[in-house]
Amino acid sequence: MKTTIAQVSKFEGKEVTIGAWLANKRSSGKIAFLQLRDGTGFMQAVVVKSEVDEETFQLAKNITQESSMYITGTIVEDTRSPLGYEMQVASIELIHESVDYPITPKEHGTEFLMDHRHLWLRSKRQHAVMKIRNEIIRATYEFFNDNGYAKVDPPILTAASAEGTTELFHTKYFDEDAYLSQSGQLYMEAAAMALGKVFSFGPTFRAEKSKTRRHLIEFWMIEPEMAFVEHDESLEIQENYVSYIVQSVLKNCQLELKTLERDTAKLEKIKAPFPRISYDDAITLLKEKGFTDIEWGEDFGAPHETAIAESFDMPVFITNYPASIKAFYMKPDPTRDDVVLCADLIAPEGYGEIIGGSQRIDDLELMQQRYEEHGLTGPAYQWYLELRKYGSVPHSGFGLGLERTVAWLSGVEHVRETIPFPRLLNRLYP
Ligand code: 4AD
Ligand code: MG
Repeated sequence: MKTTIAQVSKFEGKEVTIGAWLANKRSSGKIAFLQLRDGTGFMQAVVVKSEVDEETFQLAKNITQESSMYITGTIVEDTRSPLGYEMQVASIELIHESVDYPITPKEHGTEFLMDHRHLWLRSKRQHAVMKIRNEIIRATYEFFNDNGYAKVDPPILTAASAEGTTELFHTKYFDEDAYLSQSGQLYMEAAAMALGKVFSFGPTFRAEKSKTRRHLIEFWMIEPEMAFVEHDESLEIQENYVSYIVQSVLKNCQLELKTLERDTAKLEKIKAPFPRISYDDAITLLKEKGFTDIEWGEDFGAPHETAIAESFDMPVFITNYPASIKAFYMKPDPTRDDVVLCADLIAPEGYGEIIGGSQRIDDLELMQQRYEEHGLTGPAYQWYLELRKYGSVPHSGFGLGLERTVAWLSGVEHVRETIPFPRLLNRLYP
């Protein structure tokens, strides 16, 4: 019977065959312990000299790291391993012998590992991070589908900027100029007017010369957009969504969280509602915390976000930023027009901003005024104005950065480990 490591609990006491690679190995004169991986998980297989033929034992003793095989044996309980089972091997069929695998069990430097990302992905730690990433994606689709949202796919090749002109990747679109999308938001607004509640999930591109543990050049964003939803209602949707993905990861990724030695007590507490602090109060808090130079009107950097997050053991919304430091499309607070109806959601433990969101301007004249202030001219923006001309409604939306969320839930330091093939300031390989 052919099966996978993830399924072995169903085969206790039975003989099965698994297609696997050798992750690691230990052997003595009479016994060999093979650490197998098959993509679905990791499992130990035990080869006892007295129980197999000589050829099988010699193969087990000499098999090299990352060689591939079909391995057959009986599944038995093993309470010491995280999986709970191991295999007592009967026979091994070598498929391919791997020679001089570059990533050995010893410590390697980050640049070396990044140069071998195509192989590094096979390691137990990277496997765990990718599984957590996958669970967040799965839970995202589940959450939005269960709540009546339609998935809509905005274009990646666009004629204009969505968030600001400085971070655009330029390309030619035949004879025209085009840019890789920084955000699907503007298109999602059009989609919300057609379908009510929508969400997107796709790659976005920022030509930012930032080299921090939170910045990728290419990252994946989940962007919901809702018609007839005001700012406060949007915050409730955001906290429910984030709670849902945290609880899904806790429920379905226990093995991976253990592999990563993640402190799950910190994640178990993450339940809606989340605290809110206004930008004004955040400035006061920062001054109290020793950031004496910060002035009202300045944007927050990573140290500021971390300091604010430290005051809460939950993700925290920083709301109502000054209009001058936020995007052109954000709706002014009706009680004072120097701040806008927006919020950034800051993750705990120093992982920084994971969501940026806002209520959007729905008034045509005000949007036209913003266009002028921001120098947004040309036909590329005309369709967006038309959304305010034909049945404009209050609407809100937000963008969750997938990689920063994966970093937070996995407890990994740097976003480069949260995406299969990271695009960084100085890295386009592999
Ligand atoms: O705050 P941002 O720029 O918001 C937008 O793009 C809005 N148009 C979203 C919307 O309202 N539909 O980006 C949203 C999130 C950030 O909070 C962060 O998590 C992530 O995207 N992000 C990045 N992640 C990795 N590398 C980068 N360079 C990122 N820039 C933003
Ligand atoms: Mg932002």
